[in-house]
Amino acid sequence: MNHTSATAPTPTATPLTVEDALRSRRSVRAFLPTPVPRSTVERLLALAARSASNSNCQPWQVHVVTGAAKRSLTAALLRAHGDDEGRGRDYAYQPEQDGWREPFRSRRRRFGESLYRDTLGIRADDTGARLDHHRRNYDFFGAPVGIVLTTSRHPRQSALVDAGLFLQALMLAARGDGLDTCPQASVIDFSPVLRRHLLIPDDQLIVCGVALGYADPAHRLNRLRTPREPVGSFATFHEDEAD
Ligand SMILES: Cc1cc2nc3c(=O)[nH]c(=O)nc-3n(C[C@H](O)[C@H](O)[C@H](O)COP(=O)(O)O)c2cc1C
Repeated sequence: MNHTSATAPTPTATPLTVEDALRSRRSVRAFLPTPVPRSTVERLLALAARSASNSNCQPWQVHVVTGAAKRSLTAALLRAHGDDEGRGRDYAYQPEQDGWREPFRSRRRRFGESLYRDTLGIRADDTGARLDHHRRNYDFFGAPVGIVLTTSRHPRQSALVDAGLFLQALMLAARGDGLDTCPQASVIDFSPVLRRHLLIPDDQLIVCGVALGYADPAHRLNRLRTPREPVGSFATFHEDEAD
């Protein structure tokens, strides 16, 4: 695996606070070709591995693709997508299209409108243009680094939770170096292809992909900002009457 060290955009002059990292993390869907040195990727992975896990099991594994290896994986995924072959996921990441319940159904619809209509100017019935955008997932949105995150199949539930913590930590650690990410469940639609291509052992469950690199600040895709529900909508405080 080759990693070129080239001049990367300068990491933020002042170190980011945890709050800054949380507030500035967003899914970036257009990257500059600027390479990310392997030493940087290794440091970010070491930071992510500081995540908590069930009894410190640390069930996560990552497959990092760059350069020719990434191009070859992208080609395999696009081929599989085009031929509609090699589809399959290791776990039911989400319900089928009509299986979504409120309030998630509405939130998903709003997100889809923000991405396709408001950011990309694609009409709801323009399936060709929507598909063109979707296919960019398989190139990790042009990021120089593609990561496939896997976790142990046993014990499945806690290993999945632990992998989720690792994923978030990795994305926040990246912010500290001025890097951005996009978590990508779309790539696991072709998990048999990922498994074959990256020689992922059967005892590893393929969780998701992650694009990692420097955001293209000029790209319209990166103007997208997603809202959040207020704390009162999801938090219940159980307090002593006397407090
Ligand atoms: C596990 C996971 C998988 C995701 N898969 C994709 C994906 O395949 N493609 C994509 O463009 N965004 C993907 N996203 C990004 C979400 O759409 C995004 O996190 C959400 O809309 C909130 O926006 P933000 O990340 O910019 O805050 C994924 C997010 C998560 C957590």
